[in-house]
Parts: sequence; C-alpha cells; structure tokens
Amino acid sequence: MMQDLLILGIESSCDETAAAVVKGGRTVLSNVISSQIDIHTLYGGVVPEIASRKHTERINQVIRQALQEADVTLSDIDAIAVTYGPGLVGALLVGVAEAKALSFATGIDLIGVHHIEGHISANYIEHTELEPPFMSLVVSGGHTHLVNVPAYGEYEILGRTRDDAAGEAFDKVARAIGLGYPGGPKIDLAAREGNPDAIAFPRAHVDASAYDFSFSGLKSAVLNYLNGCEMKGETISVPDVAASFQKAVVDVLVTNSMMACEEHSCKKFALAGGVASNSALRHAMEEACRERGIDFYVPSPVFCTDNAAMIAVAGYYEYQKGIRSDLTLNAVPNLPLGER
Ligand code: KG4
Ligand code: ZN
Repeated sequence: MMQDLLILGIESSCDETAAAVVKGGRTVLSNVISSQIDIHTLYGGVVPEIASRKHTERINQVIRQALQEADVTLSDIDAIAVTYGPGLVGALLVGVAEAKALSFATGIDLIGVHHIEGHISANYIEHTELEPPFMSLVVSGGHTHLVNVPAYGEYEILGRTRDDAAGEAFDKVARAIGLGYPGGPKIDLAAREGNPDAIAFPRAHVDASAYDFSFSGLKSAVLNYLNGCEMKGETISVPDVAASFQKAVVDVLVTNSMMACEEHSCKKFALAGGVASNSALRHAMEEACRERGIDFYVPSPVFCTDNAAMIAVAGYYEYQKGIRSDLTLNAVPNLPLGER
C-alpha cells in the first residue's frame, strides 16, 4: 500500500545534517536535524570544508536517531530519498555516499531528490489537502525561484534571482549592521522593534523579465546608507534598518508572486524555503493572498529551513512515478530544477 510506504530522507546539502522517516508521503514519524550553525557562526558564514567534515561525523548517528524516533528499523524502510543537488559538493557527497552505501547493503530502493523540490514539498506535510496545480515561491539562502507546479514532480520556473538569493541578502545585510550569522532570523527579530518606513530602500524590478528578482542593488543601498551615516557621524538604528530592508525584500517577493498567480489564474500559493520562516513575509503574503481569494500555504518554520522530512516527501512522489536512482547517483552542485 502506497499509504503505508516508509521513506527514509537524508539531507546534507549545506550546514544541516538531517534524517527523517515519513509514512505515506505526508506523515512525519521523525525529523532529526543536527545544525552546525554554532561552528560556522565563528567564521561568519558556512565554511564548506568544515561542513563536509561535520556531516561525516554526524550522519550515522542522525540516521540511527531518526529510525529510533520513528520506531522502525532499516528493514521496514521501502526507499531512501537523498538530496543530490544543488548545494555544496563536499556536503552533498556525504549524504549521497551514505544513502548509496545503505541501499547497496540492504537492497532498499534509492531516489535522488532535488533540494528545491524538497522545499516545495514541505508544504504537503501539514496541508494534507494541498495538491497541484499551485504557484510556489522558494526563498532560501541559495535560491529565489518563482515556480509553477502543474502536477506532482513537475516544475516550471517563471522567475529567479539575477544575483543574490533573498536569504543571502538577509545574511549580508545582517553582517553589515553587526547582527552576525545567520542573518535571517536575527533581522526578523530586530525588525519587530523597528519602523519599516524609516528608510526608503529601493524595490528592484527586472525590466526584461517581470518575474525575476534582483537583490544586489538593495544590498548596496543598505551599505551606502550605513557608510553615509558613518561619514556624517550619525548613529544608525539597527531595528529601523532591519525593518526597512526587510520590507523592501518582502514587497518585491509579494508583488512578483501575486502577479504570477493572477497571470496564471492560480488559486493556490505555497511559500517555501528558509526565508519562508520570516514572520513579516509570511504575514504579508498571507494578507495578499487573502485579498485576492487565493488559498495560502506555508510550512511551520521547522519544515521551512533545511530538513530531511521534506526530502522524504519529495522522494515519495518521485517513487510513485516509478523513479529510482542507481548506484551511479552523484552529487550535482548546480542541479537544475525539474531535470534528472
Ligand atoms: O532553506 P535554508 O535553510 O537553506 C538553503 O537551502 O539555503 O535557508 C537558509 C536561509 C538563510 O539565508 C537564513 O538567513 C534564511 O534562510 N532565514 C531567514 C529566516 N530564517 C532563516 N530569513 C529571514 N527571516 C527568517 N526568519
Ligand atoms: Zn534549503
């Protein structure tokens, strides 16, 4: 029975070592995440070499714990879904090698999963009624993709960032105003005390492609503002800068997303990725959807940032379509969405 299908998900594309067991594609039996944030904070960002080493140290224990918490053993698992791209190649390789070794030793089916497909699929976990077609915005540390999802496992990219990803912009601005790494959650928190209309930062729209994003101009505008204040001997209000920057990002994300929904007559919208845990973005997008009669979906914050439950869910729908990977599966750091 497909409803009873048990998938072990493995995720190691960046700085989280994660494993999860998901039943029937939607029920999370366990979701173990070992974050390396403490170590990378010392360096102000993710150090790829350290990330790979930490994944290697932790992955066996994380998988063991995921099986234990789900109260299953490897012999109960029907398929192993692993992120094989995009991401840091050395980090991805740890998960891929682990999944291949487990599959080889046990004969369990192997499914390579696209990380972004995982982020979008995180929406299926708590919204059991959600089914394609829908529109999705994936905003993470490495990606900003506006994606039309006509059917399970099918993705049509309408827009993407021309330069920095949304999460990357949060991280860089946070560093510039002294909030440190990881920037997103810290800006989110600081912005709650600030005035989002205090500073008029630019809303960049890319002329050639209406759905594309650009955040490097906004980042430069923040840096220029900070330099200007320093030269004039003015002290900055960190909450005001955080709130004004955040609003500029949120405005553009909401505008492009709603334009995509309207032009594609789409009545369902699903937000995804680490930046989807941003409280201002969740609130503004929900409001914009409500005004237009569009059903709004977003995962709980724990399923927005990197986790393996979302990889297991994406793997379930690939499995149902008959997709299997063999032992030649390799890490692909720049894997395009929607291709195998
Ligand atoms: O999806 P994710 O965990 O990893 C990638 O696939 O990149 O996203 C991480 C990104 C980081 O840039 C982090 O600063 C951002 O998501 N982020 C947030 C928030 N929580 C995480 N950005 C804004 N507000 C948040 N609350
Ligand atoms: Zn991610």
